[in-house]
Amino acid sequence: MSRLLVTGGAGFIGSNFVRYLVERTDHSVIVLDKLTYAGNLASIEDLPAERVRFVRGDIADAGLVDGLVGELDGEHDAIVHYAAESHNDNSLSDPRPFLDTNVIGTYTLIEAARRRGTRFHHISTDEVYGDLELGDPARFTESTPYNPSSPYSSTKAASDLLVRAWVRSFGLRATISNCSNNYGPYQHVEKFIPRQITNVLRGVRPKLYGRGENVRDWIHADDHSSAVLAILERGRIGETYLIGADGERSNREVVELILEAMGHPRDDYDLVPDRPGHDLRYAIDSTKLRDELGWTPRFRDFESGLRATVDWYRANESWWAPQKDSAEARYAELGR
Ligand code: NAD
Ligand code: TYD
Repeated sequence: MSRLLVTGGAGFIGSNFVRYLVERTDHSVIVLDKLTYAGNLASIEDLPAERVRFVRGDIADAGLVDGLVGELDGEHDAIVHYAAESHNDNSLSDPRPFLDTNVIGTYTLIEAARRRGTRFHHISTDEVYGDLELGDPARFTESTPYNPSSPYSSTKAASDLLVRAWVRSFGLRATISNCSNNYGPYQHVEKFIPRQITNVLRGVRPKLYGRGENVRDWIHADDHSSAVLAILERGRIGETYLIGADGERSNREVVELILEAMGHPRDDYDLVPDRPGHDLRYAIDSTKLRDELGWTPRFRDFESGLRATVDWYRANESWWAPQKDSAEARYAELGR
């Protein structure tokens, strides 16, 4: 058994990872999370206290981080770094928190890991590669050049490059994963899929940016978790692994599927003004992860994973309702 320090463990993907660890492994977890607007203790507070300890704090707080990393066993334990400012639309309105958390926060963590010789896994995104043309057979691989478009993706790219440099210059025992768009329970209502599901639940029409033609490559959060665990257990130090489940869908297709699953006409949505600099298409080639580490996704049928997600939001209004009005107020200001 080992201990994992999970940053951002009260956010969407981090909390799914912590739940996954509790259900399927015997690791114990320290969650370090600042509880920004995107963090929600309700996503993990039912988990047993003997397995999960929660610490509220900022990953850019060097004293706090050093103390927590100092509690880990240098040989067996690890840091898994999910904490980030994660929403493109917010990064276009106010980039500063993205620099503070994604760049300085990551720097603070890898400095502590370097000093103490701690194993580090960095969670990143396929958005560091920029975007692909619609209809192009090309997909991102580990050797695709970085070409980020937004303040969000550029600060994630910066954090990846810091981790790579710390491996090369200081021998940091680190791996990096770049994953495609996640869906599943506990995702904040500002994000595309939960926003549309909760709109329909409230009797509001889904909102598609532009013409709804942009393509994202969807993966269930549980499959992201199993891939991260495989990399922690068997990944080669210094390597980057792309995580994806062959789930390419246009935004319009996703909204049509949500409407159908919820018993509404498939065209019952609104087109709203597009996001500036909106990336056209993301697509992941995860051959390296599959061949080298033997990983495969469990949720191969996006439609049924999406229906399960609709059911989760229907059954958990008390989890998402407190954030819904403020998220929609931010969109109203942007005219989206
Ligand atoms: P999220 O916004 O739901 O959660 C982020 C969490 O980090 C929140 O709990 C927040 O309180 C916490 N946090 C923010 N700033 C912090 C700070 N300074 N100190 C400590 N905690 C802080 O994000 P998410 O969607 O769960 O994404 C998690 C990670 O996965 C991010 O690194 C993101 O770049 C990456 N990722 C996300 C996706 C996706 O589809 N959402 C896809 C690929 C990669
Ligand atoms: P989002 O969940 O913000 O993730 P990302 O920008 O990291 O891909 O958006 C996913 C896609 O959905 C993206 O192409 C923007 C689009 N989108 C809409 O069409 N309508 C919406 O209300 C939102 C929030 C996003």
